[in-house]
Amino acid sequence: MTAPGIRIEGLRKRYGEGDTAVDALKGVDMVVAPGEVVGLIGPSGSGKSTLLKCLGAVIEPTAGRMILGNETIYDDGWKIPDLRALRRDRIGFVFQAPYLIPFLDVTDNVALLPMLAGRPNGQARQRAVELLGALDVAHRARAQPVELSGGEQQRVSIARALANRPPVILADEPTAPLDSERALAVMRILNQMAVQYHTAIIVVTHDEKIIPTFKRLYHIRDGKTYEEAGQGLVL
Ligand SMILES: Nc1ncnc2c1ncn2[C@@H]1O[C@H](COP(=O)(O)OP(=O)(O)O)[C@@H](O)[C@H]1O
Ligand SMILES: [Mg+2]
Repeated sequence: MTAPGIRIEGLRKRYGEGDTAVDALKGVDMVVAPGEVVGLIGPSGSGKSTLLKCLGAVIEPTAGRMILGNETIYDDGWKIPDLRALRRDRIGFVFQAPYLIPFLDVTDNVALLPMLAGRPNGQARQRAVELLGALDVAHRARAQPVELSGGEQQRVSIARALANRPPVILADEPTAPLDSERALAVMRILNQMAVQYHTAIIVVTHDEKIIPTFKRLYHIRDGKTYEEAGQGLVL
């Protein structure tokens, strides 16, 4: 076994304090290997967004551990000094909407993160072009986001999430607005990219269309996760 992409142990998150405190996560365990795409499903209010925000170092957990690759990033407190660099370089985010920057062309939308991480512009652009090729949108490299179809924009946003070669990608409802065929196409791409770039991918979803695609799922209910085998539909 290779080192896990991401491992979470006994993660807790309490919002507020005293009488009004809400225990949103009550000891969550999860492990996602490089190359694996797991689903995270659960009813509204079960703690999905809270878990994703903790994993993305957007909010601070209350207790527990998070290990990214071989490094403990949280152990009853943050263990790394620069959370901004962590989010920028080691975690990829994919959302329901692509959120491309409208005044940058497709290449620069993808190259921006490596540039912010300190890579020379030429190298950052070269990586962007390579990823756009992997995602079948190389022919749109010089286009403005507004000129792309919705599906193309989504693929560019996946290229952007991969741009700094993060060990983990967090995808929040990435297929919600898409029809069945496009939703499955996005899942096929995420599975291919996970393998090609050794990325651990966590997909929060309500989307019945894509649930059969997961080999493994975590249900979250009342702040606790329960693992189950999925169908692993071949895409
Ligand atoms: N900023 C917050 N302050 C207080 N309670 C919150 C906050 N965010 C979420 N919660 C509560 O935490 C629980 C889990 O919410 P959330 O993680 O948003 O669930 P989900 O994404 O599964 O719908 C809910 O009871 C919600 O009301
Ligand atoms: Mg939510």
